[in-house]
Amino acid sequence: MRIIYCKSMKVIFGLIVILSCLVFITCQEQVVSPDDRISMLPLETLPEVRHPENNPASEEKRLLGKYLFYDPILSGEKDIACVTCHLPNLGYSDGIDLSIGVGGVGLGTDRADHSGGRIPINGRNSMTIINTAFNGIVSSHQSYDPLEAPMFWDGRRNSLETQSIGPPAGFNIMRGNAYGAAVTYDSIIKRLQRIPEYQLLFDEVFGGANSITTENIAKALAAFERSVISANSPYDRYVKGEKEALNKNQKLGLQLFFGKANCATCHSGPMFSDFSYYALGVPDNVKRSDTDKGAAGVYLFRTPSLRNAGLTAPYMHSGTMSTLEEVIHYYAAASSGNPEVKTIDTKVQPLELNEKEISNLVEFIHALTDDSYDQEFLTRVPSGLKPGGN
Ligand code: HEC
Ligand code: HEC
Repeated sequence: MRIIYCKSMKVIFGLIVILSCLVFITCQEQVVSPDDRISMLPLETLPEVRHPENNPASEEKRLLGKYLFYDPILSGEKDIACVTCHLPNLGYSDGIDLSIGVGGVGLGTDRADHSGGRIPINGRNSMTIINTAFNGIVSSHQSYDPLEAPMFWDGRRNSLETQSIGPPAGFNIMRGNAYGAAVTYDSIIKRLQRIPEYQLLFDEVFGGANSITTENIAKALAAFERSVISANSPYDRYVKGEKEALNKNQKLGLQLFFGKANCATCHSGPMFSDFSYYALGVPDNVKRSDTDKGAAGVYLFRTPSLRNAGLTAPYMHSGTMSTLEEVIHYYAAASSGNPEVKTIDTKVQPLELNEKEISNLVEFIHALTDDSYDQEFLTRVPSGLKPGGN
């Protein structure tokens, strides 16, 4: 009896020791778990959208802006709309290296120039309009002014309102040969006034006589763009506390992104952009006859947001990199691919990354995708033209 009692005491004691060891090991693992390491990083999510005081949001204005965004009525030859180069199913970009404007036929990767040389090539890769409501925001703790929001690869315009006035007047973008640049908006306004549905919508949204103006067209377009938001990616859900929203590889990729790979030096804040300009020596697109000198004529280009980058290939201002892997290989080599750019920004240094690390970085960038933004492709617009054009 006594012997059995002793033996079972030993077994129980042994079990306690083993259990304590297990608890100890588990605790040790938790101390250095990826989630703990990540929690030290400056991870940010997007705040609420801010609308300029002189362009408050309303549902009617958003819808009017969406009609205008899809309607080829804003183009000289009535063959192209904003949406032609900013397609919802391609993350509001167009899937090709250099956008094709006037004289193009087809949508997305099927689009080709049919102008027979009449229209010169447009020299840049399309940018997404998703989350452009947040352009310029460098931290969710800091205020930002939507009227100062930088636009384009070279930041040459500020605010969505100012930006949207440009494309309809651009010869190879939307205007073509139908009218001269100076009378672009006189012509567009006359066209819109002749369409009762537009006249009614502008009156409702902006009130008063003469509601169809250049300024109000721009305001409606901007209001629509500010409604195209994507802020609930797996990354966002992770930061808000859903620890399983990122898989193991994405967590490793995130740590590389903020650590050894040094990406977050520039791709920082809630937009994964510092909205600054750098010379990375990205090669020119050979379809261009000249070199693209970027901002200030010294090959500076804006750090683009990486949100939804998984949807917007090809990459860079010249559209010369077709995959995210290719982009990362370019960074790892840290040498200029453009003979015009002798030295690239010193923040880009050679990286020792193995293929597994590169694929983890790519997986992390895919975790910045949230395709729950407005993807509804309009099937009719008030002009009766085909939404999106040719
Ligand atoms: C021919 C294709 C094409 C058409 C049509 C077009 N865009 Fe673009 N869009 C581009 C390209 C290319 C860029 C980048 C240009 C640059 O950086 O110089 C761009 C940039 C933008 C940006 C800047 C995004 C950012 O983060 O800086 C906005 C906003 C935008 N377009 C909205 C519009 C609107 C609104 C219309 C219609 C009025 C329109 N686009 C028509 C091709 C097009
Ligand atoms: C020195 C600042 C800087 C650093 C560091 C940096 N980037 Fe960039 N990134 C940029 C700029 C600027 C561009 C646009 C360059 C151009 O088009 O000429 C860009 C473009 C990109 C693009 C293309 C996005 C698009 O929409 O075309 C991706 C993807 C990207 N970077 C990922 C990364 C990754 C991953 C890292 C880390 C390995 C990284 N970047 C490090 C500034 C930086």
